[in-house]
Amino acid sequence: MDFYCMTLFPEMIESCMHESITGRAMEKGLLNLTTLNIRDFTLDKHRKVDDYPYGGGAGMLMQAEPVVRCYEHIKEQLGERKHRVIYLTPWGKRFDQREAEMLSKEDALVFLCGHYEGIDERALDLVATDFYSIGDYVLTGGELPAMVMMDTISRLVPGVLNNDDSAIYESFSGNLLEHPQYTRPEEFRGMKVPEVLLSGHHANVEKWKHEQSIERTKKFRPDLL
Ligand code: ADE
Repeated sequence: MDFYCMTLFPEMIESCMHESITGRAMEKGLLNLTTLNIRDFTLDKHRKVDDYPYGGGAGMLMQAEPVVRCYEHIKEQLGERKHRVIYLTPWGKRFDQREAEMLSKEDALVFLCGHYEGIDERALDLVATDFYSIGDYVLTGGELPAMVMMDTISRLVPGVLNNDDSAIYESFSGNLLEHPQYTRPEEFRGMKVPEVLLSGHHANVEKWKHEQSIERTKKFRPDLL
């Protein structure tokens, strides 16, 4: 999977994505990340990327020119390769596990991270193919949502997790939340691991896990049932 990220804060994305599981996947060549600083594509000698909105309104908007030129640079690199250009915005479609599964099948994804009060609509008309929100709240920019999406999608790319099963048997795959889990020691501060998990009885273990998943879903996310 090739990720491209258009942002005013490339270091923010690079430092986060090069850690842990996504970092290892990049070393293995399963994921590639290219971050581009939108400011590098301005034609303005002061490298200005924002201006006041026509018609008034709060704050500043990102101008179309550097965003579109930044995308054109990526497009040159991608050539004929199929790709989506995702703009992160609170008014976008809600991102969830199902959307992540669909996007993980793509070959290349380009993320456009806005800042200030948003981006000139003409840039969106020219470059964006998809619009996603990660939840009903407003962040200061699109970088965190882009990282949330890249992280979620990455772990669905074959080979990124050590054990591909763990991508399947998790919360939200199959509409149930994950059951409680335990590791050594068998007793911690007087609390014991449920007997059934030590029994070695595979069928009983599976039954217990399923029941626990239902209980947890009822308690925390009854809307999923
Ligand atoms: N940009 C600012 N807030 C956002 C959100 N909730 N989701 C996606 N992009 C955003």
